[in-house]
Amino acid sequence: MANTLDFTPTPSGRSTPLHFRDVVSAIHDHPLQECGHLIDCACKSLQGYVVQVLTSVSHQIHDALKQYKTEGDSEAHKIFREAAGHTKAGLLPETVNPDEETIPGIQHPGSTGVIYCSDRAMANGFSYTSSHEWANLGQGAPEVGDIPDAPPRPQSIQLPFDSLEYAPTTGVKELREAVANLYNHTYRQGKESQYTYENVCIVPGGRAGLSRVAAVVGDVYCSYQIPDYTAYDQMLGAFKRLVPVPTAYRMDLDQLRKDIRTQGLEVVLMSNPRNPTGQVVQKDELKELVETARETSTTMILDEFYSWYIYPDDESEFGKSISSAEFIDDVNEDSIIIVDGLTKNWRLPGWRVCWVVGPKNVVTALSQSGSFLDGGANHPLQLAALPLLDPVHVQAEKIALQKHFKHKRDHILKRLARLGLKVAVPPESTFYVWLNLEHLPAPLNNGLTFFEELLKEKCIVIPGIFFDINPAHRRNLFNSPCHHFVRLSFGPPIESLDKGIDAMARVLKRAKKEGMHGFGHNYKKSMDGSGASLEHHV
Ligand SMILES: Cc1ncc(COP(=O)(O)O)c(C=O)c1O
Repeated sequence: MANTLDFTPTPSGRSTPLHFRDVVSAIHDHPLQECGHLIDCACKSLQGYVVQVLTSVSHQIHDALKQYKTEGDSEAHKIFREAAGHTKAGLLPETVNPDEETIPGIQHPGSTGVIYCSDRAMANGFSYTSSHEWANLGQGAPEVGDIPDAPPRPQSIQLPFDSLEYAPTTGVKELREAVANLYNHTYRQGKESQYTYENVCIVPGGRAGLSRVAAVVGDVYCSYQIPDYTAYDQMLGAFKRLVPVPTAYRMDLDQLRKDIRTQGLEVVLMSNPRNPTGQVVQKDELKELVETARETSTTMILDEFYSWYIYPDDESEFGKSISSAEFIDDVNEDSIIIVDGLTKNWRLPGWRVCWVVGPKNVVTALSQSGSFLDGGANHPLQLAALPLLDPVHVQAEKIALQKHFKHKRDHILKRLARLGLKVAVPPESTFYVWLNLEHLPAPLNNGLTFFEELLKEKCIVIPGIFFDINPAHRRNLFNSPCHHFVRLSFGPPIESLDKGIDAMARVLKRAKKEGMHGFGHNYKKSMDGSGASLEHHV
């Protein structure tokens, strides 16, 4: 008889745990002396069943709670808000937020998203010695090593005696000339108005160039788009004269014209090609944008750092890049300011040699802001950059780069699609994928939590909220149009991309297998207990 009390299938059709009803019917059928044992079994079975029900209810409650509604519900968001410089602005004006004071009068301005992410990665064990174990798809830089068919990478630089001196704040004249020639050769052949060195200001990196420009923008409404390059956030907040005004998610020329008219915009800032969405305004649309600047007397600051990262379907188009310079009529009259440099296109982010191209009188203004902001670009590296701007060299670099990065883009998109992470708007430019997570179960559907879960798998991505340019830092992150996104970079070599996608596959597999109760918590504290250290770049 006793063998009817094991966990073999029973009349109720259940195997484990033994169903309470089976035990009760067994008691009815058995002599009294066996009942004690049967009742014990009944209790155990009942206990097991209750535990199972309660666990399942608790998981369901847990999963329901994961439908976070506000920042306070989410551990990932709370960690972000604790980091120095990312505290939500309260009633006090941003400039006197007492929690962010360091020593009297000094505040944290808030690091760019990339730095926050690198700090969170370090809290999860990332270090320079262990970096090879990680997939860094947060990296905002292209791979810098050899790529197929590209000219050899520069390996050494000369240090002529003169280069020990300061360079002029507008840059070495030969380099300014070389930049002007390159723009004329690439975009302005046959046009009457040509750039000269006086239209070029060499700057120590893209951000320095953008800051020089922001410092000379007057008391005007300066519009920017969402999402866009993270550093615009701090940059637009740092120069207090201009008033930043957010505009459309996607560049819409009709809307822009309307905004210029109705909101009195005088300056428009945008990256084109666009970081993080990988979209690009080109051909007729770019021509219209330049015409809009002319017709509405609006200054357009066009950040063209990804101007070579264009992926044509037709092989014969490899080697073409885009720039508003192609559609400018008079280089000294049209109110277009172009920012670009060696950082992305030449894959030399460490050189800090970049430029701003615009009307002559803008360049003299930038010379002045550079004289107190940064003092000018590195002298020896400006000289070393000269041969790299030769149009023949440039063409070879461009073609190799476009082929290689197109291959990486297609590879990452294919692998993401296989994971069910289909990219609705695939990048036609840059080396970023703007991935919408909305269709994933909560809380993996918000970028900050997805990011934290990937850190546990040694993969870094950038949560979308960092591209929600929001200089006043007042918006609830849950209301951000970028909340459900992450940016993946295919800047790194293909092996790293694969490692990163493998990490995503593990997270999704675990979610499928175990449900969502294991997600959204148990995140490591940042190294200093709260804030972001500013020393490390990803
Ligand atoms: C759109 C855009 N502009 C400018 C820069 C900054 O360039 P740099 O590193 O030379 O300061 C970046 C770098 O990520 C960028 O994405």
